[in-house]
Amino acid sequence: MKNSVKTTFASAFEEDVSKGLTTFPKYLYSKYIYDKKGDKLFQDIMALPEYYLTNCEYNILEKHTAEIADAFLGPDGFDLIELGAGDGKKTKVLLRHLVAQNTNFSYLPVDISLNVLEELNASLKEELPELQIKIQQGTYLKTLENLSNYGFRKKVIMMLGSNIGNLLHKDAIIFLKNIAGAMNAEDMLFMGFDQKKNPQTILDAYNDPTGVTEAFNKNLLVRINTELNGNFDIDNFLHWETYDPETGTARSFLVSKIDQKVIIENLNLEVHFEAWETIHTEISQKYDDSVVNWLAQEAGLKVVRTFTDSKKYYKNYIFKVL
Ligand code: AVJ
Repeated sequence: MKNSVKTTFASAFEEDVSKGLTTFPKYLYSKYIYDKKGDKLFQDIMALPEYYLTNCEYNILEKHTAEIADAFLGPDGFDLIELGAGDGKKTKVLLRHLVAQNTNFSYLPVDISLNVLEELNASLKEELPELQIKIQQGTYLKTLENLSNYGFRKKVIMMLGSNIGNLLHKDAIIFLKNIAGAMNAEDMLFMGFDQKKNPQTILDAYNDPTGVTEAFNKNLLVRINTELNGNFDIDNFLHWETYDPETGTARSFLVSKIDQKVIIENLNLEVHFEAWETIHTEISQKYDDSVVNWLAQEAGLKVVRTFTDSKKYYKNYIFKVL
């Protein structure tokens, strides 16, 4: 088995898993958490009392609905392109307002999960039948390539949930540069950034006592088992969260409780774990204004407006091109 480790792969998932588990320190990309089960677990996370992010952003959107919606308006209407739309719970606050105001706009949600998009589409067809909506399945990167095709009227690109926090700063800059490159002078980027705060509050948000976050993190191993014929014993790993208050980086790990071997048949791979060896699975970056301003500047963007909640836990920023 060992001497025939695969070098050609049937999918990006296969290739990324193979690379991540044959290097040191081991890692897996968090984007692979989101299959049907992972989507459901993330919805459960958003309902956790410890996971303050969703409520804070929801409150910001509710408190400032009209101001935010007014900032979106353009002379010929606008296209609202949402990256990582998810279940749309927060976006619906804005959509309801925009539709009630008879605004000329279309809603173009993008998500990596087709399943989540179809549910969003169905629920919006029912709740807001007048809404012009066109769903698009794909990764952020693919979507950004198509962004310049929407050059006919104002574009508002929206990314909520502090989803940008899954990127290291250098990747966030590349990502923002790509967005900026597709933006005209009147276009806007509306984005949510979770803020630095009491480190305990952040740790608790990624370490709920009911184990939902643990199951979410471990869904990576479940997916390898079901899709790549792996034999991970999920109970032999524990979920571990760290937060560095200096850098603002929260990191998730799966830690092997014992010395063990795992076989992943489709990859022709046997993976050895020492006792207490780690798999790094996710980063959830926390920000402050100076870091956001720096990222924007590096990417050719400027902050034109911000909205925050009463506890200042979370902030939404409007950017334009420099
Ligand atoms: C959806 C990426 C914003 O990092 O806070 C929640 C995912 N991970 N609990 C986050 C997540 C663990 C979430 N994002």
